[in-house]
Amino acid sequence: MFHSPKLCLALVLLFASALVSAQKLSDQEIEQRVNSLLQQMTLEEKAGQLTQFVGNNPQTMEMIKQGKVGSLLGVLGAEQANAAQRAAVEASRLKIPLILGYDVIHGYRTIFPVPLASAGSFDPQLIEQAERVAAKESTASGVKWVFAPMVDIARDPRWGRIVEGAGEDPYLGSVIAAAKVRGFQGKDIADPESVVACAKHYVAYGAVEGGRDYNTVDISEQLLREIYLPPFHAAVEAGTGTLMSAFQDLNGVPASANHHTLTEILRGEWHFNGFVVSDWSATHELIAHGAAANDSQAAFRGVIAGVDMDMVDGAYLSSIPALVQSGKLPQSVVDEAVRRVLRIKFKAGLFERPYADPKREKTDILTPENREVARKLAFESLVLLQNMNNVLPLNRNQTIAVIGPLANDKSSQLGPWAGNGQAGDAITPLAAFRQKMGDDHVRYAKGVDIPPFESGLAAGVAAPAPPSATGVENAETESRPASIDDALATANKADVVVLFVGELAGMSGEASSRASLDLPGDQMKLIDAVISTRKPVVLVLESGRPLNISWAPERASAIVQAWYLGVEAGNAIAHTLLGDASPSGRLPLSWPRSVGQIPIYYNHKNTGRPSAPDRWHTGYLDLAKDPLFPFGYGLSYTTFSYRNLKADSRVPQDGTLHASAEVENTGKREGTEVVQLYVHDRVAPTSRPVRELKGFQRVTLAAGEHKAVEFTVKVNDLGSYDPNMHWIVPTGTYDVWVAPDSASGLQGTFEVK
Ligand code: BGC
Repeated sequence: MFHSPKLCLALVLLFASALVSAQKLSDQEIEQRVNSLLQQMTLEEKAGQLTQFVGNNPQTMEMIKQGKVGSLLGVLGAEQANAAQRAAVEASRLKIPLILGYDVIHGYRTIFPVPLASAGSFDPQLIEQAERVAAKESTASGVKWVFAPMVDIARDPRWGRIVEGAGEDPYLGSVIAAAKVRGFQGKDIADPESVVACAKHYVAYGAVEGGRDYNTVDISEQLLREIYLPPFHAAVEAGTGTLMSAFQDLNGVPASANHHTLTEILRGEWHFNGFVVSDWSATHELIAHGAAANDSQAAFRGVIAGVDMDMVDGAYLSSIPALVQSGKLPQSVVDEAVRRVLRIKFKAGLFERPYADPKREKTDILTPENREVARKLAFESLVLLQNMNNVLPLNRNQTIAVIGPLANDKSSQLGPWAGNGQAGDAITPLAAFRQKMGDDHVRYAKGVDIPPFESGLAAGVAAPAPPSATGVENAETESRPASIDDALATANKADVVVLFVGELAGMSGEASSRASLDLPGDQMKLIDAVISTRKPVVLVLESGRPLNISWAPERASAIVQAWYLGVEAGNAIAHTLLGDASPSGRLPLSWPRSVGQIPIYYNHKNTGRPSAPDRWHTGYLDLAKDPLFPFGYGLSYTTFSYRNLKADSRVPQDGTLHASAEVENTGKREGTEVVQLYVHDRVAPTSRPVRELKGFQRVTLAAGEHKAVEFTVKVNDLGSYDPNMHWIVPTGTYDVWVAPDSASGLQGTFEVK
């Protein structure tokens, strides 16, 4: 009937798009369908929608059919996911689909750099692209909901979970939180390649006392609002569908039963209309916190505070019906929680398309394009901290000794929470150097093994396996026994040593706090031995936190922080060290000289005695108070100079600040500089940080090229909370810096009138 194939195609496309928009429900239609379902639901079915369990064993499958489960965690693969979904959609009374969740912290199968590392790229566009890839791979495997982004600000590297977040700064953390939400959710969470995001762990989990995981948090409302809440607010503004409430108690009230943060702030002030899931068993743990005597009280406190879905422990399922029937818990509170969960299920298109397409599992996962995004982000995340005598980039005609326990450890390249990542997918630095330089130019010795820590937990209590241990097996390819003598001989035969030391991946992450930041095991012995050969040493650190390397600037020629860079780690490291491109990563945290300086962060207060020629000022008798390397710091293979700072001299409170500086590439090769804007309010009702990051730009300049780098910032964003927790923008003088890091740069002033 149609004579033109083009016309035919156009009509087919028109029809298809009409079908899609016909399927897409308006908000009003969603409300109607949610309410109509609610009217049909029994109390047990309502409690079921508010319940998440792990896996899909036969008992759980039976409960799904009975309408007692709203979500599952950790069901992977289209076949498994579809089987669970079928039980809900075909065999349960009301046919409400499940929402299937999983921890996709830095990639699903294509593993990207750990979040702390990628934050150092200061590249939100690329981070967004990486999460798009993660969303595509997750959905191909039946996962529609990811427990990410983790947006906890952390100022304490003893806390193992510092590796999961974006570091110490609320502005950088907020920009990245929003980028990740956009990447996961795409334009529409109903898109078959989009997942629902979950900003976690709400809130202030990063402030646990002593850096000890799960410990108490007691902080001022001002610190909460100015440092810990902003990345969550940014995630909400970016449209995150869900949030996860944290484990720890906050100012005396557990975060998973905290009405102030979960309802007054989240719903009242921010108008969040998605749902909140508790962290793993956090409802039941209210008993251990001393906030409830039993699961029934725990469920009551959780749901009243604003936690809509209960992860794993079944407390909501077992308690909500009786709580409502006895009149203790208002039916309206439960209905509202169920509405929030159902709304997200409708918005995510789960009623229209509950099943994963098994074909996509073969075409969409770990593709060369996905690996390319991982390689790019790995390259941008790596931080060059020192480069004496331009030992880097390495000369390809030299012989290099690749030494150290992490040089060829596949699983540690992936990092502590590698989703469904497989160690076999990772390229190690040794493999990449061999591939790029040829076997003749590369010698290898492991030197030492890194032993696991003897658990510091109570005697007789076995330390649980860190999450990373699951599914990631160490596929160590070199079977040479580790020996320092071997390492010495190898170093002596080479022109330069590249020494890979640090922590095994499982030494950071959840339940992996450390009291010391020293290199574990005999690694210092190996380092001392290798340095004694007097060969130039390039120290490459792989770790989930800054380690104690205060000895290194004196003794190593170059220092590179490589964190855990994911499947393409080796390629990114060899690419950079051999000079194919100039490094551009920056530190997303302040690097302590010693564990005694912790907590350490650049945006600290000035105090009444900031500095003086005598001892009567804030500091230590036995150590400098500034960090070894400041927040925002990182070198490249070229140099940059800054000049000609310009800033508006007077700006109104409701206006915009313009500031700029000329940045010039003064070296001999192209490079990328992360230009940073900092501000300081000199006089305010509450004491202000000495500097606050308010903008940054990645600027690539050819050798000799210069550019005016311009920033515009809303003056309202330069304000602060007064003692009554009202947001104000004080008038008066402010300092402004356009800077390469948080400790230097060009300084000027402006007035807010
Ligand atoms: C972690 C969360 C995670 C959850 C589900 C908990 O132990 O704190 O970050 O999302 O488990 O795996």
